Amino acid sequence: MKGAILAGGTGSRLYPLTKIINKHLLPVGHVPMICHAIEKLRAAKIDDILMIIGKHSAGLFTELLGSGQELGVRLTYKIQEESGGIAQALSLAQSFISPGEKFVVLLGDNLFEDSLISYAQAFQEQKEGARVLLKKVHDPQRYGVPVIKENKIVSIEEKPANPKSDYCVTGIYMYDSGVFDVIRTIKPSARGELEITDVNNVYASGERLAYDILNGWWTDAGTFNSLYYASGRLLDGERK
Ligand code: DAU
Repeated sequence: MKGAILAGGTGSRLYPLTKIINKHLLPVGHVPMICHAIEKLRAAKIDDILMIIGKHSAGLFTELLGSGQELGVRLTYKIQEESGGIAQALSLAQSFISPGEKFVVLLGDNLFEDSLISYAQAFQEQKEGARVLLKKVHDPQRYGVPVIKENKIVSIEEKPANPKSDYCVTGIYMYDSGVFDVIRTIKPSARGELEITDVNNVYASGERLAYDILNGWWTDAGTFNSLYYASGRLLDGERK
């Protein structure tokens, strides 16, 4: 399988750190944030990776990562011109993915402990549809929250004021090339973005959205608190 890492966006919640440098290049543990996502894919033998990056700091990404050779992967880059949303960033992967091919998508600001190997394997064996990874969190209203009935995701609510479960849909997604047709059917949200939750809801409404629950720690690193938390977990892990 191939992989795609989405590392566009504005990083506005980390301003002024993100005034001069893209969020995904900030340090988390001993390395820039983006290196963790690449390593998670590499460790699952997903070494053909598309990086979707914003215009801001694009030169720094290539200076840091180059062809990916030093990290043991092959990197291809695409520029997302504007922060049009996660699904809009994902649509840029279409020319990288062959018809019928399955792939793993990571949001570049997601940091986690689990290996992706067993989840990717489960998706390879899945007959159709998409797959998401969930994690129990204490603040679900910050995320996409699944509504689960009889062990099935029936819908996902994006940043709900009154979450219907204490799980969040993490930024670890698995699709096949059919996702690009789904993206073409969705409309921008109230905040003007093509939302990944709207894409996943198309799969959920057709009972075609499988899921697993992460065992280890997981966090995004899009706020000062979560960035600090992520660094602590990674430094702890490296000390062990
Ligand atoms: O972290 C998991 C959450 O990520 C999910 O639970 C939510 O359903 C999902 O919408 C998303 O929520 P956020 O509000 O945290 O997303 P954010 O705008 O911070 O973007 C997350 C990543 O996506 C970030 O690392 C960069 C990438 N991105 C984002 C946008 C808006 C892009 O590559 N392009 C974009 O235009």
